[in-house]
Formats: sequence, structure tokens, C-alpha cells
Amino acid sequence: MNNRANKMYAGLIISSLTVSSLYADNVIKGAPYWSTPTRGVNLESKKTAKDNDESLLGIVGSSLRYSKMQIDDKFNAPDWFPNQHDKMPMIVKSGKAPKVWACASCHLASGSGHPESARLAGLDSLYLQSQMKAFTDGSRLDYSGHMNRMSKALSTAEIKEVSDWFSTLTPQKVTKVVETDQVLKTYVDETRMRRVAKPYVMEAMGNRIIEIPDNLAEVKKRHPDSTFISYVPIGSIDRGRNLVTTGGGKTIACTGCHGTDLNGSSIGPAIRGSFASYTVRQLYGFKANSRKGEQAAMMQTVVNGLTDKDIIDISAYLTSLPVN
Ligand code: HEC
Ligand code: HEC
Repeated sequence: MNNRANKMYAGLIISSLTVSSLYADNVIKGAPYWSTPTRGVNLESKKTAKDNDESLLGIVGSSLRYSKMQIDDKFNAPDWFPNQHDKMPMIVKSGKAPKVWACASCHLASGSGHPESARLAGLDSLYLQSQMKAFTDGSRLDYSGHMNRMSKALSTAEIKEVSDWFSTLTPQKVTKVVETDQVLKTYVDETRMRRVAKPYVMEAMGNRIIEIPDNLAEVKKRHPDSTFISYVPIGSIDRGRNLVTTGGGKTIACTGCHGTDLNGSSIGPAIRGSFASYTVRQLYGFKANSRKGEQAAMMQTVVNGLTDKDIIDISAYLTSLPVN
């Protein structure tokens, strides 16, 4: 679809409850629906009124003010605390028109990201560059399609510049993990974010992980330190700890390659404190061979013997850990 057609299409879906995706999503075979959220609609939005709203919003501790429109500008991401990081590369702040959106728009100016995207803060620059390359050549499929689509439009030098920058950021702990057998009913909105449905109804947790914003209004302002609650099944953290630290007779202990503290080594990247739904997507990606390539081959041996439940348990445990 060309750009013009995309724009027209975008106009059409705003009023539609049935069309779910502007860009094609990739299928990560086996990955549960709750880990690969399909773009939905904002059930609470009064679309036209909100879109034109120019009133300025703030967040505690920042003197900056942005309108909702500015906050959502894919080519000029809000940077609430510019003094908290090194000078942001142009591409992180403003993307590279017309194809590449500002990295900070989805991954935030802190690199903490959201459950539907990924945390980048503090990851090794060479690892980040290798993933951009894998998105470009298709050896790693991103369920949302955005990373595959955008990485192709960046040069090696640009990828290095943004990766170097994200690696300088200090990772923050942005998930609070709660074990439960009952959880509020949720839905996925137009930004792929899972939110609590109204009126409030409880439902069985089952074999799922449900991650929702701790404070929706702050998250929607793209607050760099937005926190999320990760609801996980009862007992999952302990079971996950056993698998991660010993392999539990089913797999290889993760510490061997991801470092004794799981904060990364010369072999594998940091995996502690990541969003649980992100970890789930990756483990299925390795299993389904939609995240493949030289380095990913090591993970394929690791995930082969894991059941759906093991993957939930491991992801629950990893997100329960502090980031450093
Ligand atoms: C529209 C939202 C969006 C934008 C804009 C975006 N990303 Fe992403 N990014 C994602 C999503 C979604 C994922 C998760 C993919 C997955 O689950 O496999 C991701 C994952 C990544 C990863 C993999 C992280 C890991 O731990 O392996 C890297 C690296 C990355 N993005 C870099 C970037 C860079 C650099 C930019 C700017 C040029 C950028 N992204 C812009 C949505 C976005
Ligand atoms: C033999 C070495 C090895 C072992 C053991 C290992 N990993 Fe990995 N892991 C890697 C490598 C290498 C990568 C990077 C793959 C790539 O470049 O795509 C990786 C990547 C990952 C990722 C993706 C990280 C991201 O940011 O996208 C996750 C999640 C992960 N491993 C989890 C685990 C878990 C959980 C275990 C233990 C059950 C484990 N790994 C054991 C080598 C290993």
C-alpha cells in the first residue's frame, strides 16, 4: 500500500470497530494472543474532541508542557527530562521521515518501553545493532511489523548511533509483579496497549500474563518512567526461578549465557526485569524459528523442551527481578 492509500485507510479505521490493523502484523507461531496484542480501538475515546485538544499537559518534576497531539507525534517524541540522558540522536527524537518513526515514541526517552514494545535501556550496543540487522534481513520477525518495516530504512551508521545512545541509558524497574488467580477483564486499545475494561469485571487468570499500566494517564503522556503491573499465575515466580537457575531438568540454566546475575554477558543480552509479555514473545519466536540466525540458534536448544506453562513461569520470574 502506498503512503497516500495508507493515509486514506487510516482515516477509515478511526471510525471502524472491526478493522484491526493499519500495517500487517507478523504471526509468531504458537505465541498466545495476549503476548502479541493486535491493534484495537480505544473504547473510551471521544476521538474528534481529543484529537484537536491543544490544552497543555505536564508531569510532576518536569517544567515542559505538551499537548496530547504533540505527545502522540510520531516524528517528534516528547522528552520530559532532557537533562536525564546524553543528547538524544535526531532519529530517536524525530525518526527519519517518511518511514521511520521516532524510537522514543514507542521505546520512550528512558528506553524503558511498554509491554507491547521492548525495553532498550542499557542493552549492549552490539546486541542492539545485531537485532536491527536481524529485523532488516527478516531473520527476526517482529509481531507488530514495525521494526521489520523501519529498520530497512536506516543505514549502518544510523543504527550504530541510536544503539550506542540506548546503551548509555540506565535501565529502570518498571514492572510490579502480582501473583493472582483472578484478574480484571482487559482489552487492547488502538496503540496495542492492554487496558482495564469498564465496567470492572473479574475473570479467571488461567495460563496468561496480563500487563496493564499502573497509571494509565501517565503512561499515555509517554512518561519515561511509566510503571506497569504484571499479573502472573500463582506459583509462577518460584517455578520460573527453578527453571532459570537450574534448568529444572528441561533446559539449560540461563545464567550460563546471560550472566550469573542475568544482566548480560559476552554471549547473551540482559534478560532480567524485561516485560513478561515481551519475554514470552521472544521465547515463542525462538521456538517457532521466526527469530533465527547464528546467535538465536543457541536459544533454540534452550526453548525446545519448554511447555507453554514453563514459558509463562520463566517470564514471570524474570520480570519480578530488579533490573540491577
Ligand atoms: C511503533 C513503535 C516502535 C517504534 C517507533 C520503534 N520500535 Fe523498536 N520495537 C517495537 C516493538 C513492538 C518491538 C518488540 C518486537 C518483538 O516483540 O519482537 C521493538 C523492539 C526493538 C528492538 C529489540 C530489543 C531487544 O531486546 O532485542 C530494538 C533493538 C528496537 N526495537 C530498536 C528500535 C529503534 C532503534 C527505533 C528507532 C529507529 C525503534 N525501535 C522504534 C516498536 C517500535
Ligand atoms: C547457550 C547460551 C544461552 C543459554 C543457555 C540461554 N540463552 Fe537466552 N540468549 C542467548 C543468546 C546468544 C541470545 C541472543 C539471540 C539473538 O541474537 O537473537 C539470547 C537471547 C535471549 C532472549 C531475548 C532477549 C531480548 O532482549 O530480546 C531471551 C528472552 C532469552 N535469551 C531468555 C533465556 C532464558 C529464559 C534462558 C534459560 C531458560 C536462556 N535464555 C538461556 C544465549 C543463551
